[in-house]
Amino acid sequence: MRFEAFSRKAAEQRSDCLVIGVFERGELGSESLAVDRALRRRLRELLARGDFSGRAGETLLIAEPAGLRSTRLLLVGLGAKAQYNRRGWRRALASAINALARTRIVTAAIALERPPARELDDYYFGRAVAEISGHCLYRINDLKSARRPRPASLARVLVGPVEDLALGAVRAGLAAGAPLAESSALLRDLGNLPPNVCTPRYLAAQARELERTHGRRLRVRIFDQAGIRRLKMGCLLAVSRGSEEPPRFIVLEYRGTRRARPPLVLVGKGVTFDSGGISLKDPPAMDEMKFDMCGAATVLAAIDYAARRALKINLVGLVPACENLPDGRAVKPGDIITSASGQTVEVLNTDAEGRLILCDALNYARRYAPEAVVDFATLTGACVVALGSHFSGVMGNDDALARELVEAGARTDDRAWQLPLTEDYAEQLRSNFADMANVAGREGGAITAAAFLGKFTRGLKWAHMDIAGTAWTSGAAKGATGRPLSLVADFLSRRPGA
Ligand code: BES
Ligand code: MN
Ligand code: ZN
Repeated sequence: MRFEAFSRKAAEQRSDCLVIGVFERGELGSESLAVDRALRRRLRELLARGDFSGRAGETLLIAEPAGLRSTRLLLVGLGAKAQYNRRGWRRALASAINALARTRIVTAAIALERPPARELDDYYFGRAVAEISGHCLYRINDLKSARRPRPASLARVLVGPVEDLALGAVRAGLAAGAPLAESSALLRDLGNLPPNVCTPRYLAAQARELERTHGRRLRVRIFDQAGIRRLKMGCLLAVSRGSEEPPRFIVLEYRGTRRARPPLVLVGKGVTFDSGGISLKDPPAMDEMKFDMCGAATVLAAIDYAARRALKINLVGLVPACENLPDGRAVKPGDIITSASGQTVEVLNTDAEGRLILCDALNYARRYAPEAVVDFATLTGACVVALGSHFSGVMGNDDALARELVEAGARTDDRAWQLPLTEDYAEQLRSNFADMANVAGREGGAITAAAFLGKFTRGLKWAHMDIAGTAWTSGAAKGATGRPLSLVADFLSRRPGA
């Protein structure tokens, strides 16, 4: 997929298809007005006849529009003019790409009405064009036996007209968004794969694959069960114990700069299937627990993104990967286990397994004396209750770091919201028998989970993202969303020196 900005008038831009927007009630913006003039008012005539209403999401493909340099014209509804904003623009662009993907069009010139500049500046405009295009063209790597439908032909997206002064920023945005589309497809593929394919060993093989692709900038180390035992990761081993699939601990070290700068460490929950273990989950939607490795996939994709863009930062990815299954040897409620940090944990609920595997990985992060640590995890149903599927939850021990993540989310429409994390919550984890319990009752469940992790990050600058509500969608459009990679990519791109 290639992305370019153009600066000539839309009617004069050559392509297989020019894409313009029309507001509800046939109102035209400045781009579509100019196109209407080139078409000798035939656009207005069409609208007057009622052939196109301009409702949001509506599209109409017109063949051989005389007066344009493009061989087709695609009309896209923008909704009511007074309400048109960044959100409306994103939706209109997605409708356009989805319509183009059903055709044989290879090169499209997109001249949709831009949202107000104060809502979306030139850089983030370019970035969003590439990101949304890639997102809409993604197809699930399904295992259906019927012959695959022909992939979309769309391969070049031109966007404009862009004023000369803005060209640099729009191009920089496109250059940031294009690799994001690639890394996002990797994340979504890993999430969508069935759990009998995407196992801990499969995630490890994917990490190796990244090492092959990105050469000497990326070094990957993989610990097998014996290696994990040597690391004394008792909590990761305990969660893994009920499974026939061996666990893996995956370490990715990306060196984007020779300068001896402390790295940023990203940690991702890699439970490739979460049945709940002995504290077994209810059957409905249990299949969706194949997505319980989306934190891990976020970390692999983030490293892939940094390497594709050759970001000049030092990054470490840590992925504890295992299954959570019931078995005669499985960890059970009441068991007390010892984490790599030496702290003991009473397992009251084996379904609170994410925090157990993360605590050992967070402890491993210490050896890098990192600049900061951020973990990503589909950690709690409580976070979904609190924020729904619109915002990821952010918690941590450093408000400036949390704010950076929240702001990256706001800029990229991959939104996140900070929840309070004070000592009050940690007190709820008291156990009579061990240093702490792994659960703390129903109240504030997203935060008490973070409080558990907080017991392993003392002295580190740390943030935690709970992506349980945002990493995938259920229902008819079931599948991985690619979130929060867009947020993370922006966060990484803005690190000093990047
Ligand atoms: N992977 C789940 C969290 C989850 C549940 C994400 C549903 C998305 C949808 C996690 O391992 C889990 O089971 N958490 C428990 C914690 C509880 C036992 C304290 C939960 O949220 O119910
Ligand atoms: Mn669980
Ligand atoms: Zn889980």
